[in-house]
Amino acid sequence: MAAESAREAVLIIDDELGPRESLRILLKNDYQVLCADNVDTGLQLLRAHQPSVIVMDIRMPKKNGIQGLSEIRKLDPLVSVIMLTGYGALETAQEAIRHGANDYLSKPFDAREIQEIVKRHAQRTRVERRRRHSEEELRQINEQLSANLASKERLAAIGQKSAEFVHDLRNPLTAVLGYVELLSEDLKQSKDKLAERWTDTAEYLEIIERNVTRCRELSEMWLSLGKKTSGQMRPVVVQELLQEVMESVGPMADSLGVHVEWARDQEPGAIEADRLQVFRALCNLVINAVEAVASGTGVVRIRNGKADGRVKISIQDNGSGIVPEQLKRLFEPYFTTKGKTGTGLGLFITKKVIEEHCGTIEVQSKANEGTVFTVSLPLARP
Ligand SMILES: Nc1ncnc2c1ncn2[C@@H]1O[C@H](COP(=O)(O)OP(=O)(O)OP(=O)(O)O)[C@@H](O)[C@H]1O
Ligand SMILES: [Mg+2]
Repeated sequence: MAAESAREAVLIIDDELGPRESLRILLKNDYQVLCADNVDTGLQLLRAHQPSVIVMDIRMPKKNGIQGLSEIRKLDPLVSVIMLTGYGALETAQEAIRHGANDYLSKPFDAREIQEIVKRHAQRTRVERRRRHSEEELRQINEQLSANLASKERLAAIGQKSAEFVHDLRNPLTAVLGYVELLSEDLKQSKDKLAERWTDTAEYLEIIERNVTRCRELSEMWLSLGKKTSGQMRPVVVQELLQEVMESVGPMADSLGVHVEWARDQEPGAIEADRLQVFRALCNLVINAVEAVASGTGVVRIRNGKADGRVKISIQDNGSGIVPEQLKRLFEPYFTTKGKTGTGLGLFITKKVIEEHCGTIEVQSKANEGTVFTVSLPLARP
């Protein structure tokens, strides 16, 4: 019995005993032959045994072969179906082919012919089933690979964003530290003197508060994994933004003995921007300039103006300058000449932010003379 069920099966569906029996006898040496005298029994056998070939009569009472065919195809689109037709019933045979039969045989059939046709179609079913199986395996492998890739990309994105986050938190924290130092100096003074300097102290406290808020916003931005924050695009007055940059970078520049000047354009210009993002970009440029100049003689000049519907901001320094080979690599992530103190992400982030705001960033530099970065951003529509 076990050996029988391991053999390839052929199902014969015919209401007439004569042809059913002769087919069974012709095929029984090579196949497990299953017989049914109507379509419904045939369908049950198809479900239970998954034959490779079905030989089915077209003319049967109740459900005929064409109806049977459509039900077979719903259950098993790959099994080969050979239809038996009456002699000369070519049209019926062609109709069966249109309904999804693989071949047809006219009654009375020739023994050799039936053996050959069943053999050929059994092989066809095997090939088709193997192909379908391989396709399914490939699809599953593909799905698995895509899932792996997505999780790897996500991890890489988290890694990249973590580095950017650490880089960006450093700037506001440096500002907080600078103002806390100024405050503690003030607090060391006697009570009366502190009262005299209360305006300064209140201002320092405000700057600290702003920078702590910035740190919180950066953390939130990181939590949302740096998704593009188009919802936060608002008109931002460039002068206000640069004022904040000056306040943030000022104490750091002072402590390094670097003079930062801002030739403020009095005419206000607004850009449509994610304020925090553009702030971080400009801070990076000014900090780089401060870091590039020498203590005492170093000067950083910030200018802003408007032309051709765009806001231009330039940050110029009289520092070390950049040699041409390094100029090419400036905006690459992790490119730094500052050893362990730099991450090399500052300019990479800056460029990304400026471009996300439909802006451009250009650099001109001469070794030992200095550098100028120019940012151009579209003016907000009035
Ligand atoms: N104004 C400048 N003058 C001279 N070199 C500069 C200037 N701005 C940038 N560079 C060069 O470009 C490199 C990359 O700058 P970027 O801001 O991307 O990284 P970094 O400043 O080295 O590190 P981080 O921004 O993390 O502190 C710097 O290491 C420096 O060599
Ligand atoms: Mg930098």
